[in-house]
Amino acid sequence: MNDTFLKACRGEKVDYTPVWIMRQAGRYLAEYRAVRGKADFLTMCKTPELAAEVTIQPIDILNVDAAILFSDILIPCEAMGQGLDFHEGKGPILGPPIRDEDTVKKLFVPDPEESMGFVMDAIRLLRKALSNRVPLIGFAGAPFTTATYMIEGGTSKGFLHTKRMIYENPALYKSFMDKVTATITEYLKAQVAAGAQAVQIFDTWGGIFSPADFRMHALSYVQQIIKDLKEWMQKRGETVPVIYFVGSTAGLLEEIKTSGADVFGVDWRINIDDAAKRLGGDVVVQGNLDPLSLFLPKDKIEENVKDVLSRASSARGHIFNLGHGVVPETPRDNVIALVEMVHRLSKK
Ligand code: CP3
Repeated sequence: MNDTFLKACRGEKVDYTPVWIMRQAGRYLAEYRAVRGKADFLTMCKTPELAAEVTIQPIDILNVDAAILFSDILIPCEAMGQGLDFHEGKGPILGPPIRDEDTVKKLFVPDPEESMGFVMDAIRLLRKALSNRVPLIGFAGAPFTTATYMIEGGTSKGFLHTKRMIYENPALYKSFMDKVTATITEYLKAQVAAGAQAVQIFDTWGGIFSPADFRMHALSYVQQIIKDLKEWMQKRGETVPVIYFVGSTAGLLEEIKTSGADVFGVDWRINIDDAAKRLGGDVVVQGNLDPLSLFLPKDKIEENVKDVLSRASSARGHIFNLGHGVVPETPRDNVIALVEMVHRLSKK
């Protein structure tokens, strides 16, 4: 098995820098669009065979060192009792928005196998289909990032309703977040039990806070999840690495450092050597090429890859990735070239 990614997660020596790409299964691939032409996005998520098919596409096409389960961070919102739909061009729509005691009360903490069994079925199917070619990463949204979608009813720019709830009714926010946190904790345990070999927690919107607010209103819930998950894994004799990715990482590194994660995802707004240093130096980092730099000519992409690799060499371990998801318009050839460059330039 290609276990370079898992070794890097554990901070062990590797022969080259492993690479995978956030949103590696997606619309920049014609092969993905072909499957997506036959089924809408949610149907794909809920049909294990389709989810497995598009999860494997980038392994074949890009030669990346890890597979990430095809799903979405908003799947648990529906399982908690909120309506979820994806509208063409408009992104996700969730309803009714969670903004008062009544809507919070109606939410429940679901049994993941009962209400999201299709995700665990996809994981079990993928472990068989991949037969140890590369490790499989499971994931969930962090409670705060998930909660923004539930409170705003979709994607937001200013996060007005979210911040209003936090500042005007902190007790309501906390009771809501306790439900989201319990749901995500059980969901991640179920993914590990089904066979996920690493898990990533996405906190895409964590960067909208001051460091103190981030600690109180976002990070504290992630710390609970990681602590609970690790205690649960220890009892089962599992050592599945936890990756924590926060968007707009730079302002929050001293906080992120205390999350309990094994690997820290870093976006492109900071040099990855600076990030590693502020995280404590002896850490494993993941990142951090600007996704839009994949529109540069290949020789310039290569210069950027070299820069990230040489900067990250100061950390204990490095997993190469973009600083956020690959966008649908990205030239597919450049994504293939990127993976080849990382492998060639990092070879020991
Ligand atoms: O990385 C992977 O390849 C695994 C699959 C994955 C998707 N979404 C598939 C997807 C993962 C890990 C996610 C995470 C996710 N989803 C996040 C956190 C990371 C990030 O990107 O910030 C967030 C915030 C979401 C919520 C979400 N899902 C939005 C806002 C949208 C609409 C925007 C868009 O790109 O269309 C989605 C839809 C979505 N999730 C698509 C894919 C492939 C596109 C759906 C389509 O095919 O029409």
